[in-house]
Amino acid sequence: MANNEELFKKIIAHAKEYGFVFPSSEIYDGLAAVYDYGQYGVELKNNIREYWWKSMVQHHENIVGLDSAIFMHPTVWKASGHVDAFNDPMIDNKDSKKRYRADVLVEDYIAKLDDKISREVDKASRRFGDAFDREMFLQTNPRVIEYRNESEKIRSRLYSSLANNELAELRALIEELGITCPISGTRNWTDVRQFNLMFSTQMGSLGDGAGTVYLRPETAQGIFVNYLNVQKTGRMKIPFGIAQTGKAFRNEIVARQFVFRMREFEQMELQFFVRPGDEKRWFEYWKEERMKWHLGMGIPEHYYRFHEHEKLAHYANAAFDIEFGFPIGYKELEGIHSRTDFDLTSHQKFSGRKIQYFDPELNVSYVPYVVETSIGLDRTFMAVLSYAYTEEKLDDGSERVVLKIMPFLAPIKAAVLPLIKKDGLPEKAMEIFDRLKFEYMCFYEEKDSIGRRYRRQDAIGTPYCITIDHQTLEDQTVTIRERDTMIQERVHTDRISGIIAEKIAKRN
Ligand code: GAP
Repeated sequence: MANNEELFKKIIAHAKEYGFVFPSSEIYDGLAAVYDYGQYGVELKNNIREYWWKSMVQHHENIVGLDSAIFMHPTVWKASGHVDAFNDPMIDNKDSKKRYRADVLVEDYIAKLDDKISREVDKASRRFGDAFDREMFLQTNPRVIEYRNESEKIRSRLYSSLANNELAELRALIEELGITCPISGTRNWTDVRQFNLMFSTQMGSLGDGAGTVYLRPETAQGIFVNYLNVQKTGRMKIPFGIAQTGKAFRNEIVARQFVFRMREFEQMELQFFVRPGDEKRWFEYWKEERMKWHLGMGIPEHYYRFHEHEKLAHYANAAFDIEFGFPIGYKELEGIHSRTDFDLTSHQKFSGRKIQYFDPELNVSYVPYVVETSIGLDRTFMAVLSYAYTEEKLDDGSERVVLKIMPFLAPIKAAVLPLIKKDGLPEKAMEIFDRLKFEYMCFYEEKDSIGRRYRRQDAIGTPYCITIDHQTLEDQTVTIRERDTMIQERVHTDRISGIIAEKIAKRN
């Protein structure tokens, strides 16, 4: 997906103008990388969460849900490795006083080399037309080979310095590549230091033996520490899963990409407990299942791709991301990790409790292995919004912006609109609204011309507009207008509810 800053800005402006996402505390000039969801944003977000919950919990007989607290015992984060290892390497520019993630500065440099390769390919493809052999060109063009070799060399130095925690080497790489600060334009850098991403606060009053607690940086640990509770009370048999959605907090250094990278965000996570040795099979299963879930939102396949991790997190023995083609390029949307028995074993050690499973088929006890699927709700929201955002030129020469969101995810399913504000039409429309509102999210509006009201509903992605006109009073029929085709169908009022329910059902 091409990097399209212009489109990205339009989507952010649209999200604000139409009540999807507002900067947090905006009347106080906002709070960096924190956002509030408005009246339509919250509906879309709820619908995506519900789609996830139903697919994971309701549709699997061996997966149950959980809602654990955000605050947890501080030792949890020691055991999980977050206190010692949940760091990003940061570097400051002494002139602009701006702070950056050192690895991201290098990754941006690599991305520029990759862009140069793409530009060479585009140029050659235009020059040679149908005769262009892309693979051959990539293998033989001297400039492409040079860029690729350089990018591979840098990538390998970057990952090796990150893996071995060689911060001086990372600093040397930035220096050698001549990377400058985008604000000051200088290379006047500090040393690279590790920066822990967890937010901390105090629990209890200070005189009261107060202790430092953390705002959870992932929801997963709430699942691990409840493994025994759920397994025993739910009489769960391996393989089984525990799913949870909820807020997570990270003090992100790079935080400038709308709801893609926030300091307070929401995750939807599954920990799937399996027999040791079975984890690779289940890892493949969940990779496939999760991709199916994404495609179920009606977004074409080419928007998604798998990306295998080169640098594994401290707990994983295999990891893939599902990346999405955002307007800012392909970026991580979901992580699928084979977490081994790292977390449960560590909690067993730190808590002194035995955290095991007695497998009646094998007649042995063991610490289960875990396959995790972890998706950002806000990033999924951004994926749906950026795919749906469409600017259209209509036959009559006018233009409209329409959000082509799959009906089952749309914030409002049906808008009920009296053609004019008199002659008993509002009363009739309200009667219809009062009937439909118990079935799905509806919206009632009588102000402005019907054309303008249709445009507003298009802009928030409402799939159906029901218009009540004078004929309605005579023969009890209304028109139902479909958002994408703009085709209107005349139907009896008794049929509205069924027709729309059928169209917005997930199976459609
Ligand atoms: N429990 C595993 C875990 O937390 P992660 O890759 O760090 O793994 C999982 O995060 C998902 O959470 C990511 O794929 C992303 O969608 C979302 N996420 C992570 N950091 C985020 C942030 N700062 N803002 C928004 N979403 C974020």
